[in-house]
Amino acid sequence: MNDHVPGEMRATRALTPRARHPLEDAGLNLRPSSRKASSALLESAGEEATTSGTATLPDPVFSCRDVNVSYGTKLAVRNVRLDIGRKEVLAMIGPSGCGKSTFLRCLNRMNDTIPGARVSGQILLDGRDIHDRELDPVTLRARVGMVFQKPNPFPKSIYENVAYGPRSHGLGKGPAALDEIVFTSLQRAGLWDEVKDRLHGPGTGLSGGQQQRLCIARTIAVQPDVILMDEPCSALDPVATARVEDLIDQLRQNYAIVIVTHSMQQAARVSQRTAYFHLGNLVEVGATPRIFTNPRNRLTEDYITGRFG
Ligand SMILES: Nc1ncnc2c1ncn2[C@@H]1O[C@H](COP(=O)(O)OP(=O)(O)O)[C@@H](O)[C@H]1O
Ligand SMILES: [Mg+2]
Repeated sequence: MNDHVPGEMRATRALTPRARHPLEDAGLNLRPSSRKASSALLESAGEEATTSGTATLPDPVFSCRDVNVSYGTKLAVRNVRLDIGRKEVLAMIGPSGCGKSTFLRCLNRMNDTIPGARVSGQILLDGRDIHDRELDPVTLRARVGMVFQKPNPFPKSIYENVAYGPRSHGLGKGPAALDEIVFTSLQRAGLWDEVKDRLHGPGTGLSGGQQQRLCIARTIAVQPDVILMDEPCSALDPVATARVEDLIDQLRQNYAIVIVTHSMQQAARVSQRTAYFHLGNLVEVGATPRIFTNPRNRLTEDYITGRFG
């Protein structure tokens, strides 16, 4: 599944509970660490905190600099500097409340819809500032689609759930072209075989896992560049989770994917890069196998070994 993850870690894909900590299998040294947490990070949640690892990439799809987000007077995301690569899955991990969802929502300007939220800094999508006045947020959200924790199909048919976006964005002119988009999107989302005989039945009549794949089909129907996923499997059972994870792995051939997850095993299975957030700071980012086997910052190590969070 993930080309770079050690074989032992891939083996943790099993759906049955296991006793050993997966990171032990992955070769992580769980003895007390000599690594230092940045003192700024530890003492004050770090106004000038720097990120360990490689935050920038050549030719990224997203380039984020000095991104801050506050809700009223509370700073929820601090000075984040991060590039997101093409055709890669970036996992965002960290304790609850550390700003993962808030940062994710910056990428398609969903924070604009939250009263009191204020975003500053520069976010370039393919070199273009997403806060440019000329850029319509609705168009941006078609290019940067989002899949939420709880599957949220429209109260419409399966067909209409997928057709709605392309139709309203002027894609798929004519019934045959629209059919083609709907069928292809359902195929790519791995749902076609299960729904092809009930396309005009309600989307809400599907199982939770099928609904989540329907939401993914709806997202890819408008031909996005990037797909954001905020804990997309946390409402799903292990079998449905495994199907969505397989799908994420296939989708990365065509899209950049940013996934927030509480499951470190999931991050290890599906992502090529992992970003660790702590109290609104991006503490560390790097290749997923490196983050899980050789974290540079002690805060990252404490979290992935279960000592914190
Ligand atoms: N709509 C909101 N209004 C006010 N504060 C918020 C809102 N959403 C999130 N926060 C606060 O911002 C911080 C980061 O939250 P969030 O991004 O949801 O964290 P995570 O997704 O990592 O759990 C938390 O302290 C949270 O309470
Ligand atoms: Mg969240």
